[in-house]
Amino acid sequence: MNGAPEKPEKRDKSFQAVAHRFDGEYPIIVHGLTNAFGSQVVHENLSIAVKRGEIIGVVGGSGTGKSVLMRSIIGLQIPTEGSIEVLGESITDARADDDIDIRSRWGVLFQGGALFSTLTVAENVEVPLRQFYPEISDALRREIALYKVVLSGLPESAADKYPGELSGGMRKRAGLARALSLDPELLFLDEPTAGLDPIGAAAFDRLIMELQDTLGLTVFLITHDLDTLYEICDRVAVLADKRVIAVGTIPELLATDHPWIQEYFNGPRGRAAQESQSRAKSTAKVVDNPAGGRA
Ligand SMILES: Nc1ncnc2c1ncn2[C@@H]1O[C@H](COP(=O)(O)OP(=O)(O)OP(=O)(O)O)[C@@H](O)[C@H]1O
Ligand SMILES: [Mg+2]
Repeated sequence: MNGAPEKPEKRDKSFQAVAHRFDGEYPIIVHGLTNAFGSQVVHENLSIAVKRGEIIGVVGGSGTGKSVLMRSIIGLQIPTEGSIEVLGESITDARADDDIDIRSRWGVLFQGGALFSTLTVAENVEVPLRQFYPEISDALRREIALYKVVLSGLPESAADKYPGELSGGMRKRAGLARALSLDPELLFLDEPTAGLDPIGAAAFDRLIMELQDTLGLTVFLITHDLDTLYEICDRVAVLADKRVIAVGTIPELLATDHPWIQEYFNGPRGRAAQESQSRAKSTAKVVDNPAGGRA
């Protein structure tokens, strides 16, 4: 009992990581983040905590650093200052000795898709599987890839097409299939509905919500799409003045008096999204209660 604590074995570490998966109330914790490119300071003392199982929308003007924030969280951008913890592991400290590669526990859909144009959709989905599970047989890898393609709402026939042969909406779904390839706990989506027509965007929103629900994902979703915010986000974080100035439900944000938030949600587009959501809700009520009137 009084002896020196045993050096934890690798196996214990992986148990620890698994324990975090179930216990961690906040799978993403960013504290005091500062990012600068030369003299341009993008973030200054930015903090945010993402709750397990939520879809958090991240909004902010173009160039406010939403994508840089996402890249910092997934370790692609080394911050000037601050700490970032994902699934109980520090992203900002060296972690060369970690036996579980944290990158296998999240999936990312980058702004613009970032699919390999010389690989088919299925081959794109297979890339992370090859990287993290090289021991998987070709046949099983292909089977997993096909499953993810279908899970993402694409026909199986899309699997052998090249990204250049797909529509923009299909490319987004292919990117999503790749993001889901490793059964992630966290899903990062950077502008997933940008460039989609409203019907395609709404279908993509529904897909995200269904996946979040059935797979129990935590979703970090950067978007300019007000309909997406109203339809599927549990909370919204607002990036302005180099930090997260507010985070909460949309009614909570509307109750603040920050001019950017007011203009964003109460401007013409914000009001239209708000109205379309309350219309959708009242239509749903009529359908639920065809006798009408008596709820
Ligand atoms: N690798 C880089 N080198 C230098 N500057 C960068 C780099 N990455 C981003 N920036 C700058 O950081 C700022 C924030 O960029 P970021 O891409 O995060 O914006 P954003 O909020 O995602 O905008 P958008 O809504 O247009 O996608 C921009 O001014 C951008 O030019
Ligand atoms: Mg961006």
